[in-house]
Amino acid sequence: MKRIHIRGGTPLSGIIPISGAKNAALPLLAAGLLTEGTLTLDNVPNVVDIESMLALLAELGATVETDVNTGTNGSGSGFGLSVRLSTPAIRSTTAVYDLVRKMRASVLVLGPLVARFGHARVSLPGGCAIGTRPIDLHLKALQAMGAEVGLDAGYVEVSAPKGLTGAVFTFPSVSVTGTENALMAAVLARGETRICNAAREPEIGDLARCLVAMGADITGIDTDTLKVQGVERLGSARHAVIPDRIETGTFAIAAAITGGSIELQGTRLELIGATADALRQAGIAIEPTAHGIRVARRDNGVRGVDVMTEPFPGFPTDMQAQIMALMTVADGAAMITETVFENRFMHVPELCRMGANINVHSASAIIRGVPALSGAPVMATDLRASVSLVLAGLAARGETIVNRVYHLDRGYERLEDKLAACGATIERADD
Ligand code: EPZ
Repeated sequence: MKRIHIRGGTPLSGIIPISGAKNAALPLLAAGLLTEGTLTLDNVPNVVDIESMLALLAELGATVETDVNTGTNGSGSGFGLSVRLSTPAIRSTTAVYDLVRKMRASVLVLGPLVARFGHARVSLPGGCAIGTRPIDLHLKALQAMGAEVGLDAGYVEVSAPKGLTGAVFTFPSVSVTGTENALMAAVLARGETRICNAAREPEIGDLARCLVAMGADITGIDTDTLKVQGVERLGSARHAVIPDRIETGTFAIAAAITGGSIELQGTRLELIGATADALRQAGIAIEPTAHGIRVARRDNGVRGVDVMTEPFPGFPTDMQAQIMALMTVADGAAMITETVFENRFMHVPELCRMGANINVHSASAIIRGVPALSGAPVMATDLRASVSLVLAGLAARGETIVNRVYHLDRGYERLEDKLAACGATIERADD
């Protein structure tokens, strides 16, 4: 089984190139189904979730070509992929259970398939480690545009044989991929669609800008009300994926927790607003540079800060496990409240095995800082919980062994290489 071995205690210093955002690249790849033209995406992160999406698109009938990243990610670091997609015709409109169960984001093919081909049959994703994660809001949005929805043998069947019709739809609660599915459906619907209470994550703005480059008519981008005038068809475009704000935040915490100083290249400070605010409150220095952001811990340590996860522009739930790792060695106490998912504290017992002092009370965790963590064998349970254990291992005394690293590989490109280049003692072993 693949494991990662970390020997903690080294303050990290150097440069880390930030890859393209996985959660932007996934809907952008699905958008390739919307056009008979060619969509070229640069700065696509080379991670397992992207491989899974490319396999699904090929299964549906898209022609997929990948190349080393020829787009700029600000550091020319040889990371990432350029992907060329074309879907002149479709072979199947079914996203099978075996692909969807591996990656919930497969549900992002739903909107494009129904919008362009009038039909989609997508396995219900089922729950995952962090919660039940239903797709009822996705389906409600498509129904509002005239689609018929049925359930059969664990699959959701969505059809609109006469095409979709623009509508006004208000999301009862904010959904990132729900907004993305609704937006991709609306660009080919007849007439005007208004998507209200839309999610405002930067990945949605990136998708919208790419769709506009393909010929879509979208206004209100980056706001909670997206207005779309449907068009007959979309054309070709070339688009560079935005930098990954969660990877940026993750490595910012690597600098903070080890007492180091790292320049994160190919990323932008405005992508990590709430994370940067929390880290600055904790006493971490974060400054923009010509190539990205510099993060450094001042010599007066780390202060405990209270954090509540919220949809963008609030503190990202995808950064919750990582900032908790930092709080375990802060001076004082911190309270972290998870409001987005119902079960996103699986990293807590693993951090406690490393000597952290954490108590969970329903949606909140109280963390009391300890002088130091001690390395231990720990178990990864989901993508962000896994990386929080790596962060803890970088600061802990002795050796930490992180098991089930396949979780990490879903969303972090060459994590060990990037950390080792800044002085971390970290290696992957197949033992
Ligand atoms: C996206 O998931 C991200 N994934 C997640 O990142 C991220 O944690 C999440 O947004 C929140 O920011 C991708 O973008 C591929 P939601 P998504 O729909 O869209 C409930 C990572 O680590 N809900 O915004 O699935 C849902 O259960 C991943 O990279 C419904 O009830 O999240 C959750 O409690 C993990 N019905 C809340 O809404 C629905 O139809 C927010 O979910 C849809 C969602």
